[in-house]
Amino acid sequence: MAINQQIKEKVLNDFKKNFEGKPTIVRSPGRVNIIGEHTDYNNGFVLPAAIDKAIYVAVAPRNDERIILYSGEFGESFETALSDLKPTDKGWPNYILGVADQLRKGNYKPGGFNLAIDGDVPIGSGLSSSAALECATGFALNEIFKLNISKKDLAFIGQRAEHSFAGVRVGIMDQFASIFGRKDHVIKLDCQSLEYEYVPLKLEGYKILLLNTNVKHSLGSSEYNTRRAQCEQGVAWVKQHHPGINSLRDVSMEMLHQFVEPKDTLIFRRCKYVVEEKERLLTGCEDLKKGDLKSLGRKMFRTHDGLSKEYEVSCKELDFLVDAVRNNPHVIGARMMGGGFGGCTINIVKEEAIDSLVKEIGESYQKEQGKELTAYIARVEDGTSIIS
Ligand code: GLA
Repeated sequence: MAINQQIKEKVLNDFKKNFEGKPTIVRSPGRVNIIGEHTDYNNGFVLPAAIDKAIYVAVAPRNDERIILYSGEFGESFETALSDLKPTDKGWPNYILGVADQLRKGNYKPGGFNLAIDGDVPIGSGLSSSAALECATGFALNEIFKLNISKKDLAFIGQRAEHSFAGVRVGIMDQFASIFGRKDHVIKLDCQSLEYEYVPLKLEGYKILLLNTNVKHSLGSSEYNTRRAQCEQGVAWVKQHHPGINSLRDVSMEMLHQFVEPKDTLIFRRCKYVVEEKERLLTGCEDLKKGDLKSLGRKMFRTHDGLSKEYEVSCKELDFLVDAVRNNPHVIGARMMGGGFGGCTINIVKEEAIDSLVKEIGESYQKEQGKELTAYIARVEDGTSIIS
């Protein structure tokens, strides 16, 4: 497991500075997603993996009903009571409070607790720092209060916390990937049945390079909910003719042409992207199993184009970064990743070409978009665990 010792020490020290007692420390990672974007809440498949960047929480129970939090990243504290859980304008505490609230709603009866957090998942970059924090919190509270909650339920608790305390109707991918990640494997997750399969990530001389636009996806949450509603509208129109259909997973292109396109061309384009992406994931996963990275990479570029032009969740900076590598012989595939409107692109790049590529694109990004580019190599690691 990739433990960042520096952050582990820091979170432990922050805990000791603010609280008494010996905490339980949990690490929960961010994620990448190879292909299958905006498919999770449409009951489709996704292909994510947990990475070496993670959120760390140090938690210990209290004797009363208070919840006291300290964030090392923000240098801020927050205090409330178990009986008074509600979203706060401060932002970061919501992911923790939302989880505590879900535990109470699920009749799990957690007590009050002290919690310190820190991490190295860049916030707002599409690497799921929020899901990582929810999962770290859920895992830690499950441990210290002996709540006996299954890993799948902890993922759902994180997801519902995000719905209720952050107001974003996210799918299950991020929480699932954070909790169930396995070193050097991607997870082929069926978001309808929650059945999953670990597929070895054999990149043979290539690496996953993340290029961060450093555009925070603040616009993303309202647009995310709008996309979700648009997909639901498309399904409702198809359902009028096929009552058995409940999600875009079971909708075909013919159905879209017949029942959605005549009603609304914008909703048609949204649904078309999802229906095509569903297919790209399934064949892309076969490419990965066969070791045909080139074919997978071509699909990643097509995914980007669909997200940019039909689903319209990209932004000019993400498009710039994908276009900048499109004809580069060392880059097998690239696309925007996650909810969109900012954050990172995921690139599969020949190992020895990474340094020069980052330098070259960093310069042109700065010159043409006026922003700094940050680059990370993502290593695929294990999911959430208790580290001390
Ligand atoms: C965000 C959400 C996920 C998923 C992606 C898009 O990361 O949290 O559930 O919908 O966007 O694929």
